[in-house]
Amino acid sequence: MSDFKFKDFVERHPNIKFFFTGGKGGVGKTVSAAAIAQYFASQGRKALLASLNPIHSLSTLYGQDMWGKGIQKIEGIDNLWGVEVDIKEKISTYRDQLSERITSFLKWADIPVDPSAFIDIAVTNPAFEESAQFDTMTDIMLEHGDSYDVIVFDCAAVANAIRLLGLSKIYDLWLSRMIESRKEALSLRVQLSFRRDRVMEEVKRDPMLADLLRQHEKNRKAKEILSDAERTAFVFVTIPLALPIAVVQRFISMVRAFDIPVGGVFVNRVIPQEAAESDSTDYMKNSYLQQSRYLDMIQEKLGDLVSAYVPLYPTEVAGVDGIAKFCDDMLNFNPE
Ligand SMILES: Nc1ncnc2c1ncn2[C@@H]1O[C@H](COP(=O)(O)OP(=O)(O)O)[C@@H](O)[C@H]1O
Ligand SMILES: [Mg+2]
Repeated sequence: MSDFKFKDFVERHPNIKFFFTGGKGGVGKTVSAAAIAQYFASQGRKALLASLNPIHSLSTLYGQDMWGKGIQKIEGIDNLWGVEVDIKEKISTYRDQLSERITSFLKWADIPVDPSAFIDIAVTNPAFEESAQFDTMTDIMLEHGDSYDVIVFDCAAVANAIRLLGLSKIYDLWLSRMIESRKEALSLRVQLSFRRDRVMEEVKRDPMLADLLRQHEKNRKAKEILSDAERTAFVFVTIPLALPIAVVQRFISMVRAFDIPVGGVFVNRVIPQEAAESDSTDYMKNSYLQQSRYLDMIQEKLGDLVSAYVPLYPTEVAGVDGIAKFCDDMLNFNPE
């Protein structure tokens, strides 16, 4: 296997802290994220598994209710914590905050209009939910980065993260423009005002400018972390089938364009040879034959990046023990 082999990769990156998993739906991103977190936990490192999915994936995986409850210790294993963000609740909090900002801005700027139309436009924007998700992820990185050795994010899809980063470029540009014009507007007021002292007070208290500056600084820190190959790795998950392979290829070229470091590719659900041979139906044998074509394709297109092969199990992967098994295979299984 390539020198991206998971353990080698980790050993070459002693300061690695943030992992993200990406790939097509259903390929094993959540399970892989959990296995990475458990790997570090089993090495005595404090690990946090963070899910921003709108579904209860961690609660289901561990059979432990974590939904919207903040950081919880995951039972049955040392050094592992989990957090399953209720993203809908976050979104509604963001909605309220934004409404407040718009209302106070219009008041501040002496614009006598009903703010509800502006608020509707802002919060029904499809990018709004994505920004809320990106912001939540940033908060977790910045607030808990120092308390955990490793944080593994299970995001809905890496496409999201990439889009969010692209978005954050635009968002940043927008923010810097806003900050500039905010500064100008404020100083104009200062210049025009007879009561200079009072306006200066207002300048300092301007909640919108303070907000924008805070957001700008947060985005800057997040981008710095996300493009730092010593601290961050995006791990892609595929299965030996055409579409998931194509998805990973596309993701990899996208993240590279954004300077996001790639931490390898997991090839999941590989039918072991003995399983195919001992199966009395033709189904497994045919799948096995088909698979070898796709394994060749993976070797050809992603070979250098493959960091783990994981076998297909007869049952789904669940619980600390199920994930520990997955983790063990992720380190040791070899399909040849
Ligand atoms: N190697 C495997 N063998 C058998 N079942 C697996 C394997 N990997 C994942 N699964 C199962 O496949 C389903 C999808 O996995 P999941 O990690 O939730 O995918 P994703 O997060 O990419 O949508 C789950 O039910 C999981 O238990
Ligand atoms: Mg998932």
